Amino acid sequence: MSNSVGMKRNLAGYGDAGFSVFLRKAFIKALGYTDEALSRPIIGIVNTDSGYNACHANAPDLIEAASRGVMLAGGIPIPFPVISLQESFSHPTSMYLRNLMAMDAEEMIRAQPMDAVIMIAGCDKTGPALLMGAASAGVPAIVLVTGPMIAGSWRGERLGACTDCRRFWGRYRAGELDDQQINEVNSELAPTIGFCGVMGTASTMALAMEALGMMLPGSACVPAVHGERRRIAELTGTRAVAMAAERLTPDKILTPAAFTNAFRTVLAAGGSTNAIVHLTAMAGRMGIGVDLDGIDRIARETPVLIDLKPTGQGYMEDLYHAGGLVPMLREIRPLLDLSCLTVTGRTLGENIDAAPPSWTQDVIRPASNPIYSGGAMAVLRGNLAPQGALIKQAAANQKLLQHTGRAVVFRSLADLAARVDSPDLDVKADDILVLQNAGPKGAPGMPEAGYLPIPKKLLQQGVKDMVRMSDARMSGTAFGTIVLHISPESAVGGPLGLVRDGDQIRLDTAGRRLDLLVDDKVLAERRKAMPAPPSGDGRRGYERLYFETVTQAEAGCDFAFAIPKITRTIP
Ligand code: FES
Repeated sequence: MSNSVGMKRNLAGYGDAGFSVFLRKAFIKALGYTDEALSRPIIGIVNTDSGYNACHANAPDLIEAASRGVMLAGGIPIPFPVISLQESFSHPTSMYLRNLMAMDAEEMIRAQPMDAVIMIAGCDKTGPALLMGAASAGVPAIVLVTGPMIAGSWRGERLGACTDCRRFWGRYRAGELDDQQINEVNSELAPTIGFCGVMGTASTMALAMEALGMMLPGSACVPAVHGERRRIAELTGTRAVAMAAERLTPDKILTPAAFTNAFRTVLAAGGSTNAIVHLTAMAGRMGIGVDLDGIDRIARETPVLIDLKPTGQGYMEDLYHAGGLVPMLREIRPLLDLSCLTVTGRTLGENIDAAPPSWTQDVIRPASNPIYSGGAMAVLRGNLAPQGALIKQAAANQKLLQHTGRAVVFRSLADLAARVDSPDLDVKADDILVLQNAGPKGAPGMPEAGYLPIPKKLLQQGVKDMVRMSDARMSGTAFGTIVLHISPESAVGGPLGLVRDGDQIRLDTAGRRLDLLVDDKVLAERRKAMPAPPSGDGRRGYERLYFETVTQAEAGCDFAFAIPKITRTIP
């Protein structure tokens, strides 16, 4: 990394530094810059706008406002593109592409001259990808999120993406809504631009990145369409210029204690299970390992306080009106490390103290009266998950958290799609639905398929939840008694791949166990018949890189070669 500043940073290699600067300035002057402008600190702005990405549709407005802030502080803003990932427009999954976006961000931050960088994040994978890239690039960086969408309304009922997407789709499949009604709902689920307005992955990661110290305080929850969102962008631009002068690089902020604060925040918010994978990947870029059993321990200590769907009732705009993240941080203050440095140049504790006083509201519960006190998530181990699995118990049917049942196995996503609604499917309400080959390599891309649909014949009997388990992920917007991230995944020889129809499985959430109740000798025989794990052979390009290097869920699904030596472990 170059020690030079401004236009002299990170020169193209012509073997003559003076000529490299001369040539660079000649080309950029074609855009109308003066020598005076080009002598200022350069603030790169990562533009994640895309015609496919409504979650980022305000990125051009935010770039304009952030640029204003940069220029007010005496810098020169230069926006540049990286790839943009929207959940519904990412085949096979956005998780498959997250590491590509991280590599894009890292290399373009490193390749181009900038003294600090503003990163416009929003949709689920974009914040993690940009922060992974920035952590590795080592340039002062600040995250600016696009903000959540506003909730919609259908026939008097408030709704929003995407907890209600799944709820209404389930009602449609059960025959409770007709084609016209489901189409009306479809038009109201995302009534404005911005990221999903429930406590899904995008909202969870916005809160986590603010708690990490990588965003301005109070900036996670402001809706995408509010004027305040643009004012935050302006302030972010101004602050980025100061960060460049202070050389406030990510390694000073992304410490083990800061990541532990972020995990605590996710747990107190009743956030998405995906955040565990993403924060693990982000910590890994700083040489910090994450101990899943430590996550279980801090989950037990951390009450769930935010009443947003899918764990509770509200939407992100309600959390914004309740004061945003800071009032929640005040409630869990004794559990946080307040000495962590943030992008403001102050500590997390100083930021909390400087925020306006909290007011009476009913979205953020006091720690003395939580939504859920048993830990938002639990980490399971057992002969089905030797390297761990997760259950979001706060969003589960509490009666099913201790359950032994007969396995109904789907060998792949295609098998699930082909058979789940068949009238011939041998399934009862107290069975356990098992999905195999949906992990990081098996699917590939660890799809959000862990929310297996309830078979239609059971839906029509009024069954709303069943125990479901897989090596897949689940959207943070989903709910139910769902065991996820089973590791190792079935496609690489994990015991999940040994489960057969009719096997008994025991889910013991209180004991943190997940076990297949089948004799070891039988399992050894089944193992002999397992297919070889998928490899990079016969594949090319990014797909080959992915298959050869992606890690399992407990390592964050990052590429092994992108992770430096792990020297510290949290929590
Ligand atoms: Fe982009 Fe939900 S689809 S945040």
